[in-house]
Amino acid sequence: MSHEVVEKNVGLMAVLMVLAVSMGGLAEIVPLFFMKDTTVPVDGLKPYTALQLEGRDIYLKNGCYNCHSQMIRPFRAETERYGHYSVAGEFVYDHPFQWGSKRTGPDLARVGGRYSDDWHRTHLNNPRDVVPESNMPGFPWMATTVLDGADTAAKMKVMQTLGVPYTDEEIAKGAEEVKGKTEQDALVAYLQNLGTVIKTQR
Ligand code: HEC
Repeated sequence: MSHEVVEKNVGLMAVLMVLAVSMGGLAEIVPLFFMKDTTVPVDGLKPYTALQLEGRDIYLKNGCYNCHSQMIRPFRAETERYGHYSVAGEFVYDHPFQWGSKRTGPDLARVGGRYSDDWHRTHLNNPRDVVPESNMPGFPWMATTVLDGADTAAKMKVMQTLGVPYTDEEIAKGAEEVKGKTEQDALVAYLQNLGTVIKTQR
């Protein structure tokens, strides 16, 4: 009988459905907020330097995430290619994280240290100069676009309020570290740091 009431009242059914789905979701998600594995940084994890943080913004601004994920799944095919699978503790200072799922290009979670800075610069200017079959677009203007660091301290402050342990001194020096560097310098600094805390055998 009570079933009939629900089935004949679409509003009530919608509310109950949302409730049922939320309970399932919450049971999966809420415990993660309290698990050490997901909230404590892995050993040796450092906040991004001011330059790396700016590089990360350039990564976002140019939509690199539309073609690149930053999460290695725990499967043999992935770890053979990219190195140790990603763990949550590597991303506690990432706001927002860049895991993604679209892989037109390779995963970048452990690209740090895989190539030289010069390789990255050539690749960003025109990918086909180092990977002839590449369909990645070039980003040549980054090499000549100079950063002024005007917003760097503010960005670091926001990160601080989100729990990234920047000292006030680091924040005060942020602009100075960035000023005069190019977008390409910042992006390469960011890429070269990705995934380097966990050592892999690659
Ligand atoms: C339209 C899709 C697309 C976009 C957008 C894109 N890439 Fe790529 N990327 C690729 C493809 C495909 C490859 C593989 C071929 C190559 O190495 O060029 C690649 C390769 C790479 C590699 C080498 C990875 C490896 O392990 O060999 C890096 C680093 C990289 N991209 C960084 C970036 C950055 C940084 C941006 C944003 C500025 C970006 N990509 C934007 C498609 C893309």
